[in-house]
Amino acid sequence: MHTISTFEEYQKTYQDSIERPEQFWGDVASHFQWKKTWDSVLEWNFEEPHITWFKGGKLNITENMLDRHLESRGNKLAIIWEPNDPKEKFVRLTYKELYERVCQYANVLKSLGVKKGDRVCIYMPMIPDLAVAVMACARIGAVHSVVFAGFSSHALADRINDAQAKVVITSDGLNRGAKQIPVKRVVDEALLSCESVEKVLVSNRLGWIPAMKKGRDHWLEDELKLVSKECPAEPMDAEDLLFILYTSGSTGKPKGVVHTCGGYMVYTAYTFQNVFQCKESDIFWCSADIGWVTGHSYIIYGPLLNGATTLMFEGVPTYPDPGRFWQVIDKYGVNQFYTAPTAIRALMAHSIDHVLSYSLDSLKVLGTVGEPINEEAWHWYHLHVGKGRCPIVDTWWQTETGGVMISGLGNVSPMKPAHAGYPLPGVQPVLVDQEGKEITENNTEGYLAIKFPWPSILRTTYGDHNRCKLTYFSAYKNLYFTGDGAKRDDNGMYRIIGRVDDVINVSGHRFGTAEIENAINQNKKVVESAVVGYPHSIKGQGIHAYVITKPGIEINDLLREEIIETVVHQIGKIAKPERIQFVEGLPKTRSGKIMRRILRKVAEGDTRSLGDTSTLLDPLVVDDIIKGAESLVVVR
Ligand code: PRX
Repeated sequence: MHTISTFEEYQKTYQDSIERPEQFWGDVASHFQWKKTWDSVLEWNFEEPHITWFKGGKLNITENMLDRHLESRGNKLAIIWEPNDPKEKFVRLTYKELYERVCQYANVLKSLGVKKGDRVCIYMPMIPDLAVAVMACARIGAVHSVVFAGFSSHALADRINDAQAKVVITSDGLNRGAKQIPVKRVVDEALLSCESVEKVLVSNRLGWIPAMKKGRDHWLEDELKLVSKECPAEPMDAEDLLFILYTSGSTGKPKGVVHTCGGYMVYTAYTFQNVFQCKESDIFWCSADIGWVTGHSYIIYGPLLNGATTLMFEGVPTYPDPGRFWQVIDKYGVNQFYTAPTAIRALMAHSIDHVLSYSLDSLKVLGTVGEPINEEAWHWYHLHVGKGRCPIVDTWWQTETGGVMISGLGNVSPMKPAHAGYPLPGVQPVLVDQEGKEITENNTEGYLAIKFPWPSILRTTYGDHNRCKLTYFSAYKNLYFTGDGAKRDDNGMYRIIGRVDDVINVSGHRFGTAEIENAINQNKKVVESAVVGYPHSIKGQGIHAYVITKPGIEINDLLREEIIETVVHQIGKIAKPERIQFVEGLPKTRSGKIMRRILRKVAEGDTRSLGDTSTLLDPLVVDDIIKGAESLVVVR
């Protein structure tokens, strides 16, 4: 596959890609191994929406990630795994070893009754078995749904039920820094309310002996002994489902974003190669968790499709100390490092000596993803980690887009702090005003939408196509709406400002305000709640919850803890509200709609410009809310 190497070449390629998209993507796709070539590159309309890429083509994505490399790269490292504890032995898997493991694992899944099209839920720590399980599903045409192992049993059960998963893959427990978490127990709790699950496959990570339900639960190690190391790759239609990944939207219920085999393969491979400019002997490290889309596309699929060496890290940036990232980079000679702004900000808060003790000489490209990077964090990353010589690719994309959409390409593109930059070839972003009218001039701001499909655009939301249509394709006619606001500068570079819908981005993780409110309202002492995001120095956004309690309930810190515990129980620790403010009423319009704009302003400490409050049913509640916020909020 061709890698763009100069900015002029990027400009020319971009122009070609939008003038002749089918030819462009057809050329890229021809670098892969297809069991049958496609009949048409693209068919689409954004109305239904109905989008197909490489229709009629047959392939198996794992054949392109594994078998295809065996001859030339059989002994090359495919995965390097660094454990949570730096003293524990790391694992290296060559392409040949990975191929065998995936085939064996795939045979285990088959022996448990998994067939093409079945959904398999994966709830696991960041260990090699997780990556292998993902590929084993793809090998036999099962649809994987990875759920981040920080979600609660309740959230896990919701996702298992929505996908009607037949099998769950997990481990005895997991390491997170100094803590160990009993993951299998979380699965057991979830399965009390999941009837579709027939089998549970368990990896042994900690040497624990969890309860194993007879007939349902199986140890991976035992099953592996019974199967062969050969497993033919299932021929898949380009538009067959590859995976479902749940993400939050503005309603209470997370939605299952669906990606399909052919387009996702072509797009993740192309973007990986061009954004990170990985050379044959390079070592690439994306520090995300495979529970999120970044881990799917740029730990597993993108790198392995390109025959690259991908590093997988089990731990956290601050364990055993805040120099861990930099220690790992020096240990393996990592060349491209891809992380989240929230991790950078968290590490900035510690002594700079943690960075300065490492050489970081091997680094060539740095990347960020998941949320806007503030200029201070950008400069710190550029200066101290990249030593002023590594470009930063600020990659804007979403679970729904499957791969990077707007970003610099290694050191090929000009960069500007806090700006994602230019669209990738084939991507046609537009800024629109409130009416959906395209704003064509530069030096402007608007809602970010995309006007033409790219190969890994989501195809549907699992089990509810109408929701897909309403969420992404109905706000503006014939446009995919991202939910983000953005600016475009004089040179046409994009800067993403953040969500313009009811989604909060906490440490790069998305939560719907309604989702958190639903969780809080599960507490029996709560009548109603409203949550908003506010700027948080490390997490990007923190969650500020306004809560109305039932009459006679005593308000104290214990109740605050209880409410937080309810959220942890319903969703997981990652969704913990930072602030709980008890209020008597919420600012509602006469039609009963909560005016979040006001709540947001109060949470930001900006109470001087609350805007028009005359449409409120009871404008006086606002004064109470402002007063109540005094102890929580620094007023600007
Ligand atoms: O608001 C944007 C923000 O993260 C959202 C997508 O979240 P998710 O689907 O969880 O995927 C995250 C990883 C791809 C976007 O709508 N976002 C993502 N990358 C950036 C960003 N905001 C600003 N700059 C980015 N580079």
